[in-house]
Formats: sequence, structure tokens, C-alpha cells
Amino acid sequence: MEMNFKIEGGDFTKAGVASSEVKKVLKQLNLEPSLIKKVAVSMYEAEVNIVAHAFHGTMNVCIDTERVKLEFVDEGPGIPDVDQAMQEGYSTATEEVRQMGFGAGMGLPNIKKNSDKLNIKSIVGKGTTVEIINYIHQEL
Ligand SMILES: Nc1ncnc2c1ncn2[C@@H]1O[C@H](COP(=O)(O)OP(=O)(O)OP(=O)(O)O)[C@@H](O)[C@H]1O
Ligand SMILES: [Mg+2]
Repeated sequence: MEMNFKIEGGDFTKAGVASSEVKKVLKQLNLEPSLIKKVAVSMYEAEVNIVAHAFHGTMNVCIDTERVKLEFVDEGPGIPDVDQAMQEGYSTATEEVRQMGFGAGMGLPNIKKNSDKLNIKSIVGKGTTVEIINYIHQEL
């Protein structure tokens, strides 16, 4: 099963909308609640990162019997140093973004904790791709 969503940069009124749509589908598929929780945290953080840090992007969701794969592709400034961006508390969020309660620098570390695989590819001045995989350990 595949789903695709557009994500607009800067539009915090819609931040999280795509993630909650996917969460509904994961529930309908009767996936383990603990797995749904992990995927929900990761996809929300990655979605908000596009809203907060990029111009626009897409979330591509691919679910099969073995895994839930999320791919976020954005056009934006890119991440100059991914290792640094992965550090807890590291954030380049603007004052405007912080006023809305984001910018603790915990999004990427939370994705790392909640995923089985995390792969970030970024080109400065072009954009960022974040791939997140969670394996399904239950009998379907
Ligand atoms: N899609 C992206 N495009 C460009 N930069 C990004 C992107 N995602 C993350 N970053 C960079 O990595 C940093 C760390 O991201 P992270 O999600 O951990 O924290 P944050 O978004 O700043 O704050 P929080 O997620 O806690 O609200 C960001 O501040 C930003 O510099
Ligand atoms: Mg973030």
C-alpha cells in the first residue's frame, strides 16, 4: 500500500495533518499500538521539520507485511552537518518557529529513538530526504 501527501513549508496550521491521516490508516490495518505510536512520533516530527525548515515537500508512505517505510523529500536549504543536526538540543529554528513551541532540537533524536532505520540525505541549497523504516514484528 502506498500513500503520498504534499507538505507546505511555513504553514503551521496544517502541520501534522498528513501524519494524522496516516495514523488512521495504521489503526485500520490493526498494527500493534506500540508500533503505531513509534511511527506516529517519527512522521509527525519529520512532517513538522519540513514545515519549520524547508520550502515544501512530500511524504511517501509504503506499507507491506514486513515494514512501514516513510520517505520525506523536500526542497529547502538542506542540512550542512547531519551529525550535528542529530544532536539533542541542536536547532536552527527561527524565533517565529520557537514562539509556536517548536525548536527544542529534539525532533531528529526522537525519530532516531522511535525507528528501526533512519537515513538522512541532504544537499545544501537543494533539499533533504529522510527515510524512516519500522519493521512489523507481528503475525498478520
Ligand atoms: N527538512 C529539513 N530541512 C532543513 N533543515 C532541517 C530539516 N530537518 C531538520 N533540519 C535541521 O536540523 C535541526 C534539528 O532538527 P530537530 O527536528 O532535531 O530540531 P528542531 O526542528 O529544530 O526542533 P524540534 O523538532 O524539537 O521542534 C533543525 O533545527 C534544522 O537546522
Ligand atoms: Mg524538528
